Amino acid sequence: MIRSVLRATGSYLPDRIITNAEMERLVDTSDEWIVQRTGIRERHVAAENQSTSDLAIQAAKRALESSGLSPEDLDGVIVATTTPDRTFPAVAVMVQAALGMRVGLAFDVQAVCSGFVYALTLADNFIQLGQAKRVLVIGAEKMSSIINWEDRTTCVLFGDGAGAVILEAAEGKGTLADRGVLSTHLYANGQLSELLYTDGGVSTTGHSGHVIMLGKEVFKNAVTYMADIVQEVLDKNQISASQIDWLVPHQANLRIITGTAEKLGMGLDKVVLTVDTHGNTSAASIPLALDTAVRDGRIQPGQLLLLEALGGGLTWAAALVRF
Ligand code: UT7
Repeated sequence: MIRSVLRATGSYLPDRIITNAEMERLVDTSDEWIVQRTGIRERHVAAENQSTSDLAIQAAKRALESSGLSPEDLDGVIVATTTPDRTFPAVAVMVQAALGMRVGLAFDVQAVCSGFVYALTLADNFIQLGQAKRVLVIGAEKMSSIINWEDRTTCVLFGDGAGAVILEAAEGKGTLADRGVLSTHLYANGQLSELLYTDGGVSTTGHSGHVIMLGKEVFKNAVTYMADIVQEVLDKNQISASQIDWLVPHQANLRIITGTAEKLGMGLDKVVLTVDTHGNTSAASIPLALDTAVRDGRIQPGQLLLLEALGGGLTWAAALVRF
């Protein structure tokens, strides 16, 4: 059978770092509160003239560089983002043009913090159906552009950045030993859309609006849904948690991540954590974490990775991948 193998990863973080100490000067908060409640110590924030596509293009270039491929080798690009440069066209076509890719599929996916796993799933499906051989999948966000910088309940949480992977078709045997995407799991519950949303949009207020979050409610749902979905991944693939080499979770809150790891019986030494320095970068958080751990040598070829995320929608998603 055809598998979608992760040929390469790349990521990009804007230069400017905002520490918790700087946050203390912006709103009524404290380093102690932010670290205790979230695990976040600092986050990167894009420059005013830097858009989501700029971040995505940098991440894509780094993935291409480490793949040894050229842009013409790619059949398409899918970008997961909640903060596109424009209402249309998609960030994906900007990436396609900037990289000099040939004509092929290019579109954005909007599933907020679960967006990267949704995009990965679509790319995997195209590859398995034989409709594409190589797809660039990016998660990119300029969350700072939809944050109300006077709202302490949200502004301390988010950051900007982008991560990219190149998925490539390869022959597999259809077993757990195959390299590539082994299973994907996508969910949404629109009944919970009022827990995390923006108070604006193009067809309502005419502008993007700002992030509003009922944090405690999102937290409770995240703990439950993450526990359920990781169990589903184990059951579907008939594996035990001890067979997973790395948990690569969405980086929203250290306490949620710890809860999921505990449920799996995994120590934090088996979890890729970037929430302390990246904050919550929404759709960019998983590919950023992935690239961080690939580049520092923690994630090795052949290792089994469990990716999971939850975000606005509510949406939630997971993927089992052999790197
Ligand atoms: O990526 C998408 C998915 N998002 C998530 O998964 C986020 C899920 N939620 C969370 O991570 C947590 O709920 C938060 C980190 C957002 C909040 O932590 P919490 O422990 O749930 O705090 P809380 O919202 O219940 O607020 C506790 C207190 C409140 O004060 P009172 O009412 O107890 O007096 C807040 O007003 O903390 C106050 N507070 C703050 N204090 C200092 C809220 N934000 C801040 C702040 N600094 N930045």
